[in-house]
Amino acid sequence: MKFFIDTANLDQIKEAQDLGVLDGVTTNPSLMAKEGISGTENVKAHYKAICDIVDGDVSAEVIATDYDAMIKEGEELAAIDEKIVVKIPMIKDGVKALKYFSTKGIKTNCTLIFSAGQALMAAKAGATYVSPFIGRLDDISTDGLDLIESIRVIFDNYDFGTEILAASVRHPMHIIQCAQIGADVMTGPLSAMEALLKHPLTDIGLAKFLEDHAKANS
Ligand code: G3P
Repeated sequence: MKFFIDTANLDQIKEAQDLGVLDGVTTNPSLMAKEGISGTENVKAHYKAICDIVDGDVSAEVIATDYDAMIKEGEELAAIDEKIVVKIPMIKDGVKALKYFSTKGIKTNCTLIFSAGQALMAAKAGATYVSPFIGRLDDISTDGLDLIESIRVIFDNYDFGTEILAASVRHPMHIIQCAQIGADVMTGPLSAMEALLKHPLTDIGLAKFLEDHAKANS
């Protein structure tokens, strides 16, 4: 299972990279705005800075929503660095754009997936990744993990090469349950990844080992 960090914050990306378990980064326009990044050239420079930190795919989302503009913007984003994956929203023109980029050999991440049908359409169009938003489904009392399960079954039935990128991950149980289901990738905050390594019995056990060692060596 690949671990992507869902942020545009360079410090957090560096921290996750230093942890040694990071496989990539996902961003979206809201996350870029949160870091105060605006203007085409600043946005491109920020994506380049992210690519220089990580070993792996970096999703950069188009703002355009019509086909021609999405192609132009996506090609400009892809030219920034070979790690860039063009992130395309699940709309009709987006499906056409996924097909275009697929035929050009440019990686894509189809975002804002909230149903199995949307995931199937993106896979048919040749998306590299589909991003079902599990946390946002949970927010409206719909089990996001059920969607991951449905997409897993469909993709396995037909051997689609499209990878399931569980997005809108909020906490460590989301990661564990996505791993149990067989999501190919999860993207979430650094806090959710770090929570995976914590257990109170580990802390208690380590304190006891160190205490006993100190006594024996005093
Ligand atoms: O990047 C897309 C997705 O991961 C957003 O997550 O927490 O804003 O629902 P969230």
